[in-house]
Amino acid sequence: MKREKFSSSLAVFLATLGSAIGLGNIWRFPYVTGMNGGGAFLFVYLFCVLLVGIPVMISEFFIGRKTRSNPVIAFEKLGGRKWSIVGYMGIIASLLIMFFYSAVAGWVYSYTFKSLMGKFNGATLESSKDIFINTITNPKGVILWQLTALLVVAIILTMGVKGGIERATKILMPVLFVLILICDIRALTLENSLEGIKFLFAVDFSKLKSSSILTALGLSFFKLSLGVGAMITYASYFTDDDNLMSTSLKVALSDTLISLLAGIAIFPTVFAFKMEPSYGPGLLFITIPLIFSKLPFGNVLLFMFFLLTSIAATTAMLSLVEVPVAYLMEVKKIGRIKSVLMVTCIIALFGSLAALSVEGNVLSNVKLLGKSVFDIFDYLSSNILLPLGGILISAFVGYFVRREEVIIEITNKMRIKNVNPLKIYLLVLKYATPILIGIIFINSIF
Ligand code: PHE
Repeated sequence: MKREKFSSSLAVFLATLGSAIGLGNIWRFPYVTGMNGGGAFLFVYLFCVLLVGIPVMISEFFIGRKTRSNPVIAFEKLGGRKWSIVGYMGIIASLLIMFFYSAVAGWVYSYTFKSLMGKFNGATLESSKDIFINTITNPKGVILWQLTALLVVAIILTMGVKGGIERATKILMPVLFVLILICDIRALTLENSLEGIKFLFAVDFSKLKSSSILTALGLSFFKLSLGVGAMITYASYFTDDDNLMSTSLKVALSDTLISLLAGIAIFPTVFAFKMEPSYGPGLLFITIPLIFSKLPFGNVLLFMFFLLTSIAATTAMLSLVEVPVAYLMEVKKIGRIKSVLMVTCIIALFGSLAALSVEGNVLSNVKLLGKSVFDIFDYLSSNILLPLGGILISAFVGYFVRREEVIIEITNKMRIKNVNPLKIYLLVLKYATPILIGIIFINSIF
């Protein structure tokens, strides 16, 4: 069976960006930044993107394109049988993420529908909070919308890499960007907006919590789709002549820009309406209806905003689900449609437990180690499996793969003469990335 490929460098960039940009930027980044004190957290986060995220992304691109395989086989080809365990860890992590990610995607889908129905007309802080709580605590509703989101992902994935993933990501990214800009302009013209900007950008390290640094590291992995094998899987479909270094830089920069723009929309609104920035996961859902409430065509804009957020979440889910699907297809020799179906069923099963476990819903009393099912899936993936995957991936490429092999894969195919930037990257990868992740990790666990 011939392996599929993306058709051009632009398609590679947009698909990879489609994986990176998602609920991570629009939902998670603002609320996590809010819960961890704002500017100082942002500072640590940017540091993690630069010294950890980008090197790990280049490494994943290298592993994927060099081997043109799913993560399990990719590690096996480059490092022997025992390394394939990193690939298996990735599959588990991508499923764990999907369990709660699909639940939140379901909330966003339902918000898209609700805004189309005009449910947010004349929204106030109180009504906004009520609608959010009613949405996430209605058992039938959350399951219905979560399954809808999963169905959309499954249908696109059965169409394959070019017809599905590539086509879906191509038009949507630019439109999302424009809409977030509109939100920003509106938020910045609210009363007190400067407070929000100060909160986001003024660095005050005394506001950091002891757990904030691991949280920032986990967020940078989650944001850039790293440590789960998603970028390895996508890179296995990259064109031969794609410039891996510049693609990773472009993706990391654009992704960070979108997160910042989301923050610039949300925090001024938080302060204008006297909400707490540390409100938590509901932050996006409560502030965005307020942003548009008194704007001409506010209804239409609100609908478009949630529609695009649904789409961003969907393109990110494509890459998460593609990890186990590529494994089933290549290792277990199961056809694409059947693989997609199997993986979707598993996610629907565990994912619905996550959706039903949020505060106020029917399974909110089920706690493991004091955490809800939703939080356990989130914690295990973001704070444990992703950073662990990151250490192993960077150490693998930094210490176990021959240097020449990396240099040839990354530069020679492009006939790039100047290999100095690559050498710097290799140094960071060897001496900074795994060690930094290790220190943060060990520090936070003990
Ligand atoms: N990066 C995606 C987001 O921010 C989530 C994701 C994580 C996707 C890991 C793939 C792998 O929403």
